[in-house]
Amino acid sequence: MTRILSGVQPSGTLHIGNYLGAVRQWAATQREADAFYCIVDLHALTIDIAPDDLRSRTLDTAIGLIAAGLDPDVCTLFVQSHVPEHAELSWLLECVASYGELRRMTQFKEKGAGQESVRASLLTYPVLMAADILVYDADRVPVGDDQRQHLELTRDLAIRFNSRYGETFVVPEAVIPVVGARVMDLQRPDKKMSKSTGTPLGTIAITDSSEEIVKKVRRAVTDTGSDVRYDVAEKPGVSNLLEILAAATGTSPEGVAARFSSYGQLKQEVADELVSLLAPVRERVQELTRDPAGVAAALEKGAAKAHAVAAPTFARARAAMGLTARNQ
Ligand code: TYM
Repeated sequence: MTRILSGVQPSGTLHIGNYLGAVRQWAATQREADAFYCIVDLHALTIDIAPDDLRSRTLDTAIGLIAAGLDPDVCTLFVQSHVPEHAELSWLLECVASYGELRRMTQFKEKGAGQESVRASLLTYPVLMAADILVYDADRVPVGDDQRQHLELTRDLAIRFNSRYGETFVVPEAVIPVVGARVMDLQRPDKKMSKSTGTPLGTIAITDSSEEIVKKVRRAVTDTGSDVRYDVAEKPGVSNLLEILAAATGTSPEGVAARFSSYGQLKQEVADELVSLLAPVRERVQELTRDPAGVAAALEKGAAKAHAVAAPTFARARAAMGLTARNQ
């Protein structure tokens, strides 16, 4: 059976970029594959975050994922730091990765730019991500477009490790959706939608009320002219709305454009679709929020299942590198 792994930062609330670019695919494939989904709390420590916030956002992210369709009885849903092999394998892979290739990562350059002091972990962030994937022998990794480069590094590290130390890791493939892989900020359509770096009015959370969704879509930045066509270079704002609508309805942005003769009409339909898509998710979030112990128990079960798979892979990697076992 195909093994799938993917991860999400504990930002607290998922936005429609996470949902349309990644999590919806995760929910759709969880029954056809052996699927592992983790909340990457160790990655969250690469930037400033208050301990109380990290704690509450980890739980809220789990609630969001379950509400968005992940069934903890079907897939393996867990918290990254609950399975220590991720961090341990990351160290081994750091001994295979080079400083030069990590320094060239676009996300490192973007996140580190202008900061007085850059955490060492921001540089090694993609190595931990490679460990997340390789420790499960994952075949496929469903992600949005912004993770493409990290996936290429993961493949390079797996191939290098295998050629240096013998066949140890499965070389995984990225699975990036054709539509919805890059949802942009509604106020700044040149920037991807993001909880941490986006604008509040340009970011739609899966928990936003219907009124908030309508307001944000209505105020979305559009472009000069009035014709509705999919043209990312000339019409980034309108193209983003078309992309969101196409992703939400399972159509193509070019095809859907033909139906509209004004920006107002397009915005109305985008708002209507998002309201009906997200209303059940929001309701489920409210229900799950009333049962934090149930969610914690699901994560505990997930960590046990994940550990059972990660431990032998990690043991294989350390033996391949020549690290001795304790009782030999
Ligand atoms: P994160 O938490 O930023 O995002 C989680 C998933 O959502 C996708 N995504 C988007 N897709 C479309 N449009 C957007 N605006 C948008 N914003 C986010 C991301 O591509 C991602 O698939 N480094 C990862 C987390 C990670 C991971 C892993 C992923 C850690 N270990 C192992 C896969 C496998 C991240 O920060 O994702």
